[in-house]
This record gives sequence, C-alpha cells and structure tokens, in this order.
Amino acid sequence: MCGIVGMIANENVCEVLLKGLERLEYRGYDSAGIYLANQEEGGSLVKAQGPIKALAHKITPAMHGTVGIGHTRWATHGVPSEANAHPHRSEHGKVVLVHNGVIENYKELKEMYLKDTTLTGETDTEIVVNVIEQLMANEGLDAKSAFKKALTQIQGSYAFALIDPTQPDRFYAAKNKSPLLIGCGPDFHLVGSDALAMIHQTNQLIELQDGEIVTLTTDSVIIETLDGQKIQRTPYEAQVDNDSIDKGTYPFYMLKEIEEQPLVIRRLQQKYFDQTGNVRIDSDLIQKIAASDRLYIVACGTSYHAGLAAKATLEAWIKTPVEVHVASEFGYHMPLLTPKAFFIFLSQSGETADSRQVLVKTNQLHLPSLTITNVPGSTLAREADAALFLEAGPEIAVASTKAYTAQISLLTILAYAVAQQRGGNYGQPSDLSHEFSLIEEKMTQMIEDKSAIHQAVKHYLPTTRNAFFIGRGVDYAVALEAALKLKEISYIQAEGFAAGELKHGTIALIETGTPVIGLITDEATHTHTRGNLEEVKSRGAETMIFAKASLAQADDLFVLPDVPDYLASLVTIIPLQLLAYYASDERGYDVDKPRNLAKSVTVE
Ligand code: F6R
Repeated sequence: MCGIVGMIANENVCEVLLKGLERLEYRGYDSAGIYLANQEEGGSLVKAQGPIKALAHKITPAMHGTVGIGHTRWATHGVPSEANAHPHRSEHGKVVLVHNGVIENYKELKEMYLKDTTLTGETDTEIVVNVIEQLMANEGLDAKSAFKKALTQIQGSYAFALIDPTQPDRFYAAKNKSPLLIGCGPDFHLVGSDALAMIHQTNQLIELQDGEIVTLTTDSVIIETLDGQKIQRTPYEAQVDNDSIDKGTYPFYMLKEIEEQPLVIRRLQQKYFDQTGNVRIDSDLIQKIAASDRLYIVACGTSYHAGLAAKATLEAWIKTPVEVHVASEFGYHMPLLTPKAFFIFLSQSGETADSRQVLVKTNQLHLPSLTITNVPGSTLAREADAALFLEAGPEIAVASTKAYTAQISLLTILAYAVAQQRGGNYGQPSDLSHEFSLIEEKMTQMIEDKSAIHQAVKHYLPTTRNAFFIGRGVDYAVALEAALKLKEISYIQAEGFAAGELKHGTIALIETGTPVIGLITDEATHTHTRGNLEEVKSRGAETMIFAKASLAQADDLFVLPDVPDYLASLVTIIPLQLLAYYASDERGYDVDKPRNLAKSVTVE
C-alpha cells in the first residue's frame, strides 16, 4: 500500500507533490507527509495524520524546495500517526526517505545496525533510513553508495525515494516488487507510484525495474543496477487522459464510475471485436486456453467475485472446468493441479500482493498464465505470459465497480473467442458484440432508475446494522459482490448467501426488520429462491426483491431487464452498487475512501 511521489525541478515542487499525493490517495489515506530540501538547515518536513487535505492545511506558503518527496500511507507497521507518517528523517538528519512496501528483515537490520539509535516511531522505514545513515557514518559512504549497500541487505518489497539534504541537486529512487515509475520533463524529473501521480506534469514515463536504482537531476535520469551497470531506457507515452481522473460535477468518484459502466462496455466492444463480430485477441493465447484441461482463476475481493460470476459462461463455452480461487489461500495451499492447467489472474490494479505471490509460484512451475487487469504495465501484467486490459479508465473510488463489470465482460469475450475458434455450438450467441450493444442500453436504463434505489435505501436501510443478500447460481455470485460493496462503504454488516444455504444455520440471525435482498434472474431456481425469501419473511425479515422482468411479481422492489443469462450479472449488479453508494452517502460517510481500506493492496 501507500503512494510515493518525488520531484526535482528549477522551481518550487511543493504544489506538484501535493497534487501527486491527492492522486495517490486511493492507495492509502491514514497519514501523509512532504519533505522539501532547501536552504534552511535540514529542509522542511511536514506530516499530518489523516487524509491529504489535513496535510495541505499544514503547508505554508513559505514552504519551498526544488527537490522534494511525499508519501500517503496505509498503515502496516505501526499505527496511523504523525510519528509513523513518512517521510522519515534519519536520527542525525543525513538522509530523508519515503517507502511503499514491507521490509521483512527489519528486526535483523535493527539488531545489526541500530543498537545505539533512538527511533521515534514504529515503522520498518525508519529502520532503513537509519541504516543508510549508519552506513554513511561508519563506512564513509556518500548517500547513494550507502543507499545501494542498504538495498543489497534489505529483504522485502519496496519503492523508495531518498534525499540527501546536502545535495539538493538530485534525489534517488529504487524498487523491488512495489511499483515505481519515472516521469520525464524538459527541465524536471519525477517518480511516482503510478502514472496518475505525475500525469498533471508529464505523460513521458520510464519504468524502473526491480533491482535498479535511479539518480534524478533536473536534466538527467541515470538508471543502474545495484552492481553499477548503467541501463539505457527510453520513455514511453502514458495513455492516461488527465480529464478522466477528474470527478467533474459528481459528488463522489464511485457514482461517476458506476455511471461509466455502459461506456466501458462500449470500449471493450470496440477494442475486442472487429467489424464482423470476430474477437480480436491473439490467437496463440486463445489456442493455449482451448488446449488447457482446467482454468484456474486467481483473484481477491471484487475481482474474485467477478471470476465467480463468469465461471458458468467460461465452462459452458470453453467446455473446460474452471476453478475460482481466493489468491491468499491458493498460494500456500495449492490444490492438486491438472496436467494442462492454465492460470488467469484477475486484478483491477495489477499490483495485489496476494495474487502476485501465486503468479511467482506458477512462474516457477512454468505454468502458462494470463493477467486481466485495468493497468497496463502493472506488475501482474508484466509478469504473466500474456495480459489483456479492461479499458475501464482509472478507477479511483476504493470500492471497485466498473472494473468488476469489465472483468466479467472480458472473461465472457475470452470464452466466446475460444468457442468461435473451435467452431462449435456451445450455447454462445451468434454475435456477442451485438449482445454487448444491447447490454449497454440496459445498463444505462438501470442507472437512470437510480432515484428508485435512493428511495429504497431511505426506506429500508436507514439504521439497519446488518443485511443479507441471497441468490442462486450467478445471482449468488452477484450477492457476494453486492454484500461486499455494501459493507465496505456503509459499514452495515452484510453477507451474501446461496439462497438455499441460509436455512442451514444463518437464518438464526434473522430478526424483525432484518433486510434480506433477494436476487432472481435464474429460470431454473427462481421458485426456490422465492421460497427461501418466504422463509425469512415469516421470521420477520424485510425482503427487497430484485427480479428480472419475466420472473417478477407485483410487490418486487425492482424489476431488472430480461437479458441472456451470461450477461445477467452485468445488469443485476448496477442497482446493488447504487444501493451501497446511497447507503454510505445517507450515513454521511466518505463514499470514496472507506475506513481502513486502500485501493491497491500490495501487502500479503
Ligand atoms: C472492493 C475491492 C477489493 C479488490 C481487491 C483486489 O471493492 O476493490 O476487494 O477487488 O483488493 O484488488 P485487485 O482487483 O486490484 O487485485
């Protein structure tokens, strides 16, 4: 977690750093800080507990510096506090450091180097900055050499940016496993955890790779390996539209992103289908998937739920068993794999550590893999054999919405491509591209009905402490995602259940007024789900039924459009995302930045 940004220029960099941190706030927002090297002794260091706006309030017009580093934090080692906020200055002020990642051997480093050092916080980063200072003092090294030496001893994940206050004409950065990009301008350079942090300054980016260190001045970027080999790497143009990261007139990014979903479907359609409705995905990749005897989808959270929602379609059209696994479990308790296993990593950010640790293991076993992500250039995209991109545009609200529907859509396109290549009839439509055009309209219709959902929230969820979502088949998969959305942003304890399973224990939790939201789009089981809803209603539950038109009844709360089963999740989820959104907003929470969370989870 955490976001870092650094800059060197011929003018004050404070504003740019602050803007970069605002853009990185999705990565963590429990505390933040900026350090600027300048003529004042030791430079200016300011930190604040809380979101970036708390830091912004503490920055005075007098704060200036032509080189600086900033950080926004999601606590791993040590509570969120000013003392634990970055940047960290070494005990005698020789170096200042920001860090994203987790140092695994921080205790050993402390034991080895810092017996006589007074530490003020509890972070692993404070250990590293002091180790660098010790190496400078004990071995007579300059900051860069000490940094390099420290890097050879550090185990774990990191993106670092380091300043030696006595050399304000440069700063240094290095990475291992955590993301870090370099931004290039005519007379300035930056580093940032992602392109968003720098796109307001430049779209000319260079990727720094694991095991490299970079020295940045206003007019040079020197990348080298830890053993001193120089690396030449030319910048590429980042495909991020600065406007697409603005909230515009929306009160929250989440609402904007929910409403962007039809547009995302159109982008996927344009990217992945040609004029004749044939899928445009590398045929080697399709062949590898067709040749596999089992697909293993590995993901976390919402992405895991997207895998579950697409599983039935993948199995039907590819005619191959599909297993969907939670990444944090899979890596350490790997099931018996079939001889021709094929791995699909689903990840909005492409940086999730739980998923990456599985990819590292599957790579060691030489198993073929594909990453489906929203972020080109992300770690999972680079490290898998192949990558496909979601075309969802930056997703800034912590609660994922458009990436979820894009993931289901892209998995469906993938399944279709395999069926098309095989040439048989597996129940796939004759023209999936056309079906996507229709779904785009139905999604728009769901969004236009948002005031009905807002009213329902006011009526059914004003003070409830808990809620249940139930469904069968794909409705169960959607129920899991709907419950996650509601709980993560409104703090209502919400659970998704297979409708038939509720009565095997959990029904004991139903009391008078407990909201139970029933999802009904499955022809084969709708009467059973209605039966389960009756069971809870007779025990006092307040039921809210979302049913598709052909299965709807008079007192259902919300009628969903009739769409093919393989696309049902794409429309069912929209009113449920809105339900979560309004529940959070009605309770007065910051919808985009729920407590304790961060968008990109780069720790295991
Ligand atoms: C919830 C949410 C998370 C992520 C999960 C995996 O709204 O966004 O559950 O889905 O942390 O992240 P990615 O998809 O980036 O691997």
